[in-house]
Order: sequence, then C-alpha cells, then structure tokens
Amino acid sequence: MTHQNERHCLITGGAGFIGSHLAEALLKEGCAVTVVDNLTTGRQANLAKALSHPNFRFVKLDVANRELMAPLVAQSTEVYHLASYVGVRLAAYPSSSHILNNLRAIDNMLDLVTHYRTKFQLSSTSEVYGKAMDVQNGQVTSLKEDTDRIYGPTNIHRWSYSGIKAIEEFLTLAKYHEEGINAVIVRLFNVVGPRQIGQNGMVIPRFIQQALQGEPITVYGDGAQQRCFSYIGDVVRCMIDLMKTPGASGEIFNIGNHIPVSILELAHKIKEFTGSRSEIVLVPIEKAFGTSFEDVLLRIPNVDKLKKQLGYHPTTGLDQVLIELIEEAEKMIHPYSVRH
Ligand SMILES: NC(=O)c1ccc[n+]([C@@H]2O[C@H](COP(=O)([O-])OP(=O)(O)OC[C@H]3O[C@@H](n4cnc5c(N)ncnc54)[C@H](O)[C@@H]3O)[C@@H](O)[C@H]2O)c1
Repeated sequence: MTHQNERHCLITGGAGFIGSHLAEALLKEGCAVTVVDNLTTGRQANLAKALSHPNFRFVKLDVANRELMAPLVAQSTEVYHLASYVGVRLAAYPSSSHILNNLRAIDNMLDLVTHYRTKFQLSSTSEVYGKAMDVQNGQVTSLKEDTDRIYGPTNIHRWSYSGIKAIEEFLTLAKYHEEGINAVIVRLFNVVGPRQIGQNGMVIPRFIQQALQGEPITVYGDGAQQRCFSYIGDVVRCMIDLMKTPGASGEIFNIGNHIPVSILELAHKIKEFTGSRSEIVLVPIEKAFGTSFEDVLLRIPNVDKLKKQLGYHPTTGLDQVLIELIEEAEKMIHPYSVRH
C-alpha cells in the first residue's frame, strides 16, 4: 500500500457483494482502499481483483474491535460502513447475535469517526420503509426519504432488520447533529450484480441457479409482490459521488431504479433468457420462511432527491443485468464454453 494517495477509503463489510464492487471502483479512482471484514457472509474470493492492486489491503477483523479498528480509521479520510447481517432469509429467524452484531458495529464506527473526524457513509436499506407504500387517492406512489415508516409487530422477527437499520440511521443523524461529523446515509433498493449469492434469500441468483440446473424455479407466495432492482455499478457510482458532495452531509438518499417488476414476471424472464425447461412453482411463504413471516408487496424508490443532488440515478435495465448475470453463472458452471 502506497501512502501518496490523498483519499484513503475504509470499507467495513467490504468482502461482501456491494463492498467488493465499491472497493474496485474506488481503486479505479486512484484511492487507497482498506477493507475490513470478518467473513461471516463475505468471501475473500470476492476481493480477487482488488487484492492484486498495490493500493489495496484486506484486514480480517470484526469492526466492533475498538483497539484494532482505531488505527485503521485514523489512517482513513473516508469510511463506508457496510458491515451488517443482510438478507430476508437471515432476518427471518430470531437471532440476538445478528441484532447485536449491527449495534456493536455502528456504535464503534460512529465513536471512531467522531474521534478522528473521518467522513462517514452508512449503507441503509429500503427495508426501513417496512410496509409503507405511499398511496395517494388510491394510486401507489414512490417512497420518499421522509415517507412515514410502517412496521409489523416485534414477534415477527423479519422486522428486526428494518428496526436495526433504522436505529443505525438514528444514531448516525444524532452524531451528525451533536458532534458535527460529516455523515451521509444511503438507502439501497434491491441491489443486483455479479458475486451476489442466493443462500441468504437473494432472489435473482437463486432463480438463475435453479433455471440453469433445471430445477423448479421457486416463487414464494403468488409472485405478485413487486421489486425495483438496481444494478450494482450504478449504485456504487452514486455512493462514491454522494461521499464527494459536501451538501449531502446530514442527509438521507434513496439509491435505486424506480421501475418495478413482479417476482413471477422475473421468474418467467429468467426462464426465457436461460432457455431453461424448469417449471415455475409457487411455494407458500410459510414453507420457505415459517409461519411468522410477512412479505412486502411493493416498494418503489422516489429518486428525486438523488437526481437533484447528483443529476442522475440508477437506470440500467433489468434485462441487461439478467443477461450479464446469466452469462456469468453459465461460465461458473461450464468455464470453457462460449455462448454465441
Ligand atoms: N444487497 C442489497 O440489495 C442491499 C440492499 C439494501 C442495503 N444493503 C446494505 O448494504 C450493505 C452490504 O450488503 P451486501 O449485499 O453486500 O451484503 P453482504 O452480506 O455481501 O456484505 C456484508 C458484509 O459485512 C460483513 N460483516 C458483517 N458483520 C461484520 C462485522 N461485525 N465485522 C466485519 N465484517 C462484518 C460480512 O462478512 C459481509 O462481507 C449492508 O449494510 C446492507 O444492509 C444491501
């Protein structure tokens, strides 16, 4: 790692899906990059490209470790905090360790960036909106950063993820007001791209894997639930540009593509694009996630604030993303085959 770089970026949770793409994008911008990850859900293999770069280093560490994190934050000019438990499947089953993991991590990171006056960005999630769909005159509109949140009860564990992420936002904003730290919050909406894995409930990699292996493509519920998928390259661009924008500090921004697709339609697209003979099978939600689970029917980000700040928002279309992901998955299964 060289020391000439003016920008030294620390990414917590950087061996995960989003963090590994962020690391590569920051290296391309000429930044020095340190990734800290305890590899609970992340993989060092995600960092294969970054690891060969002279301005990159990886530290396997829990971000709640105050003593070992302090020098890393001290050396950094900006911190992207992504370390978290993630995914509907992980959030669906009660686990105090998941909740405490996030609370300890945010507590430590905010104390350290306050002490060292390091710029901070919190990766939050569309899950903080819970079941809020902005309905006006019977019309569904998009979710704005200041839309009221609506959550299910605390005995439905799935809501813990949204609750914890909201607490992380509250704490970040409180430090911004009390301590004057430079902090921005991004709410990410269903990010998709290479390296995302299906095990934690991520729908696109799961459907692609099922389709390519000729297994039933399993749609939970009736498939009418809709999501807006955002391409990782677009999302990472917005995260980096918001960090550079002084007016973004103390603010929350939705980052997402605003075009929704139903999960059933998604399954049909993946079946068609893979040329798979897999059946599409509807699986009752209770079978997949147990009886105490609630799904969310629709979430569309309102990206006006992001567009106003940056002049753009994620727009890469779903079909283009699916084609890239299917090609990548095919290469993993048949590394020497070429698709014409
Ligand atoms: N993937 C999405 O669509 C999405 C949507 C909204 C928000 N987010 C947010 O983006 C961030 C990254 O998500 P992702 O999809 O890349 O998930 P991911 O699971 O791939 O990455 C999270 C990383 O955090 C690491 N980690 C967890 N706890 C840690 C700790 N205590 N110390 C060190 N490392 C720790 C994990 O090992 C993993 O590498 C998360 O904060 C998540 O809430 C993701």
